[in-house]
Amino acid sequence: MEEMEMKRITIFDTTLRDGEQAPGFTMNLSEKVKIAKQLEKLGVDVIEAGFAIASPGDFNAIREISRNVGNVSVASLARTTKLDIDRAWEALQFAKKPRIHLFIATSDVHLKYKLKMTKDEALKSAVEAVRYAKRFFDDIEFSAEDAVRSDLGFLTEIFTAVIAEGAKTINIPDTVGYTTPDEYYAFIKTLKNQITNIENVNISVHCHNDLGFAVANSLAAINAGATQIECTINGIGERAGNAALEEIVMAIDTRKDYFNCYTNVDTKQIIKTSKLLQNITGVKVQPNKAIVGDNAFAHEAGIHQHGMLQERTTYEIMTPESVGLETSKIVLGKHSGRHAFIDRVKALGYVLDSTELETAYGAFIDLCDKKKEVYDADIDAILNKETTHIPE
Ligand code: KIV
Ligand code: ZN
Repeated sequence: MEEMEMKRITIFDTTLRDGEQAPGFTMNLSEKVKIAKQLEKLGVDVIEAGFAIASPGDFNAIREISRNVGNVSVASLARTTKLDIDRAWEALQFAKKPRIHLFIATSDVHLKYKLKMTKDEALKSAVEAVRYAKRFFDDIEFSAEDAVRSDLGFLTEIFTAVIAEGAKTINIPDTVGYTTPDEYYAFIKTLKNQITNIENVNISVHCHNDLGFAVANSLAAINAGATQIECTINGIGERAGNAALEEIVMAIDTRKDYFNCYTNVDTKQIIKTSKLLQNITGVKVQPNKAIVGDNAFAHEAGIHQHGMLQERTTYEIMTPESVGLETSKIVLGKHSGRHAFIDRVKALGYVLDSTELETAYGAFIDLCDKKKEVYDADIDAILNKETTHIPE
């Protein structure tokens, strides 16, 4: 049987737009440029640098980032109005690869209460916006905000219409993090079958994390035919955040056998990018955060440590080196057990007889009840106190 060709997934990073929109994540101009340069090193395909009309800060950031990055697309968000499109073009005119990201809400609740528009009016606005944007942009993305809660028939109609006008990417956001992986898979499959002339169009997804499904939904969408994922570093974003870039990229990389696709991301830059964002915003990720949390490659339980020392794949499905860390962290604590303690004592150069070892181990366990992590310096202190066998 012929092997299926691996699919290339476009990574659209919106850390500087949807991510920055969240309370506590505001960045200044030079910080945004720093992040954008690091995103380029990371190998993302598109940097959504802001929403040009929203504020002078966003406008300047898009302009500066356009001037400072190389061969990566830079996008601005824009509503379907001439004013928004003009402002986006003003901000992006120096970009080597400018993209406009047009959006209008399509769900009944958004149309009725937010836009106060009928479906026909929204359709007309979307079509006219794409037509107008074509005067400036070759690369046009169109998003149907709150797509997941929209009528499938209307979505089919609006996506078919914007494609006919020249949109190259259509985005199907789960704006409020409402859907589930199975449901989203079926939703995208249906749309893909119903939209006319979708064959050469990039199908994008943009998932929020209100129910904790953002990454799972994005990955389910890949299996349904999505070719672009919109995501943010550390999963930052409105409310519970967006899909986390590092989790999506490492899932694709670690489970190539399952997803049969790849990205352009240099995974070794992941930790550096995550830390840069944490340092700039002052917002730390939780220790157990997948991929980039302090504990993501740490092992404390004795059985795990023992397994790891024999063969790393016993407890690691990806290497710390693959995300840019030097090594796994073997943490000594009360769950590590005698075996790990003895290993560390030997590694530090101590030679103890069995009685000395028992005494030292007792002192170590006492210390573990007082301290979360025990470092080499603590072991030195124990051994220098408990025994006379000090290393040379
Ligand atoms: O969540 C959302 O729907 C958005 C759109 C503007 C793409 O951020
Ligand atoms: Zn969003």
